[in-house]
Amino acid sequence: MRTDALLSQYGYCSRREAARWVKCGRVQYRGEVVHSVGAKVEAEEVLVDGEPVPFVHGIYVALNKPVGYTCSHKEEGELVYDLLPAQWLCRNPGVNTVGRLDKETSGLLLVTDDGQFEHAMTSPRRHVPKVYRFTTSAPIPEAAVAQFASGEFLLEGEVVPCRPAELEITAPCAGLLTLHEGRYHQVRRMLAAVGAPVVSLERIAIGSLCLEQLQLAPGEWVEIDPALFSR
Ligand code: URA
Repeated sequence: MRTDALLSQYGYCSRREAARWVKCGRVQYRGEVVHSVGAKVEAEEVLVDGEPVPFVHGIYVALNKPVGYTCSHKEEGELVYDLLPAQWLCRNPGVNTVGRLDKETSGLLLVTDDGQFEHAMTSPRRHVPKVYRFTTSAPIPEAAVAQFASGEFLLEGEVVPCRPAELEITAPCAGLLTLHEGRYHQVRRMLAAVGAPVVSLERIAIGSLCLEQLQLAPGEWVEIDPALFSR
């Protein structure tokens, strides 16, 4: 691709500004300084300011989302994108979260610039299990285990029952819930419906990817291999 196209696609500067970057000798290709914005380059062999182009083949990361951050590009307040390198938002395509977590939910969130990956992971036909750890303000009734597993549990205002979900009660007011779909506020709504409103909620696993193994402090992210989720 052209050098100016590369600089703009990977979020360094606009195509118009690329001339200045090149003129200042900031771009090297195969060990030589690039002198023309029209010079054809392969991203893998480019250095900008002496550094390789990051995530040449796409961005796939796992973020430990802290409570209080919103999964949106445009809402007020703190956004999950504030936790990621600003250059990622200037890339084309830019980054998006794979599905969403509520502002008050913490835990494992995938971020990618690969629209196909995002779509495949959130498709209703794809039932990647997601595990949530929660606490509640009232004891969780034993009967909820069978209700949630039945495949007949109806959320208020909905006509299609929830897919069977696995509930493990680990303490009177705490547990783990594994979902195979992603409806709006699903964990909170399911638990509220059985009389155990959620106090805290954290997603601890998506498929075989576990937050604990990643050892991320809240707000930290790490690159992942998207093949982890291929079938
Ligand atoms: N269920 C919820 O209620 N909230 C989330 O953020 C994710 C699942």
